[in-house]
Amino acid sequence: MKFLAVLGRLSDISLAELSALFGDSVKKISPNLAVFDSESEPDINRLGGTLKLGKLINCSPVDYLIGLDSKDNEIHKIVLGVSDYSRGARRQKSNAEAMRIKKILSRKGKSVRVLANSAAELSTATSHHNQMGEKPGHVEFLMVGREWYVLLGVQNITNYAKRDQARPARDAKVGMLPPKLAQILINLCGDLKAGARILDPFCGTGVLLQEASLMGYKVYGTDLSERIIDYSEKNLKWLADNAKTFKKSEVKNDLTLEVGDATEHKWQKKIDAVACETYLGAPMSLPPAEIKLKEQKAECSRIISGFLKNLAGQIEPNVPVALAVPAWLRPNGHYERLDILDGIDDMGYNVVKLNHLSQEDMLYYRDGQIVAREIIVLRKK
Ligand SMILES: C[S@@+](CC[C@H](N)C(=O)[O-])C[C@H]1O[C@@H](n2cnc3c(N)ncnc32)[C@H](O)[C@@H]1O
Repeated sequence: MKFLAVLGRLSDISLAELSALFGDSVKKISPNLAVFDSESEPDINRLGGTLKLGKLINCSPVDYLIGLDSKDNEIHKIVLGVSDYSRGARRQKSNAEAMRIKKILSRKGKSVRVLANSAAELSTATSHHNQMGEKPGHVEFLMVGREWYVLLGVQNITNYAKRDQARPARDAKVGMLPPKLAQILINLCGDLKAGARILDPFCGTGVLLQEASLMGYKVYGTDLSERIIDYSEKNLKWLADNAKTFKKSEVKNDLTLEVGDATEHKWQKKIDAVACETYLGAPMSLPPAEIKLKEQKAECSRIISGFLKNLAGQIEPNVPVALAVPAWLRPNGHYERLDILDGIDDMGYNVVKLNHLSQEDMLYYRDGQIVAREIIVLRKK
C-alpha cells in the first residue's frame, strides 16, 4: 500500500523518522511531502514528525465515499474536506473539487457538509478539530497531482499538549523534551519488536519513557538526580492512570527506574534500544559568550562521550542509539555543535545515515532558540 505523509516543520527530521521505519521506500516529493510503502496501515499517533497521513485510493473520491456505505452501514451525513498539496495549488481549486463531489453525492441522496478551505489545504488544526479521518463519515481527501489519498489521521495536537503540560511533575530547569521529539527519537531506532526494552540514561522527568510506554515498549530510565527519578515515577503513574485519554488499550507500565551516573552506571537489564535527550548544559536565554560556550561544550562533551564509552561495553552489536545533544546559537545565526561524532568510530559505533540526509540537516529548534538539539543516530558495531 502507498501512503502520503505531510511532514512537520523540520521536514528533514520527519523524513529521517519515516526512513528509519519504512526504509528505502520513503521518497521526498516536495519540501513538505513524502510517500512510502508499507504492508500495514501506520498509526499516525506514533509518528511525531508527521502532520497528516493519507492512503492512496485506487478509485475516484465519489466512488470511495459511496463505497463507505457497505463497510460502515449507511452513512447519511458526510463531512468532506479536500486538501490540495500539488505544486502551485490554490484554494479555489480545492473548494471547487469539494463542491463538485458534494453535487454528485447530493444527487444520490447524500447529505454532505463541505469544510471551506482558507488555503489550498486544510490546516492541521482544522482537520483535527473536525475529527477528519477519525469519526465515521468525516472524510478528507489529499490531492497530489492526479493522485488522491484519503486521510487516515492527523496529528492529535490536543493530546500532545496534554502529555506535555498536564503531567504532575515538571521541572523547567531540566528542560521540556516535546513528546513529538521523544517519539521521533524512539522511531529513529528503527522498527523495534513489540515489547522491546528502551533505555533512557538521562531520563529527567520521563517524557521519553512516557512516549515509549504508550508505544508498547518496556522502559528503563536512569538519571543522576534522585529527585528527578521521583518525578519520572510520578509522571509514569499519572500516564498509566490516564492512559485511556491517549490510547484505546491500557498502558502496562513495565518500568525500571534507577539513580545512576550515565558515565559509569551498570545497567542491569537487557537493552534493545537507547533513546534519549542527553544533558544539554545550562539553560540559556541569550547566546553565550565565547568563554561560557567553551566551558559548556567541554562539560557536555565529557558527559556524553563518557556515557557512550560506558554504554558500548554493555550493549550487543547492532543495538540502535538515538540521541538529542545540544548545539548553541551564535550571533551569526548558526548553531555551534559538539564534536561527538569525531571519535565515534573508536568508541565502537557506526553513524546511521538516513535518506541521504547530512548531519547538518539534523537540528531540532524553534526560531531563535538558544540551545537547539542535534539528532544523532548510531548503531553499536
Ligand atoms: C535535558 S535533561 C533530560 C530531560 C528529559 N528528557 C525529560 O523528559 O525531562 C538532562 C538530564 O540529565 C541528567 N544528568 C546530567 N548529568 C548526568 C549524568 N552524568 N548521568 C545521568 N544523568 C545526568 C540531569 O539530571 C537531567 O535530568
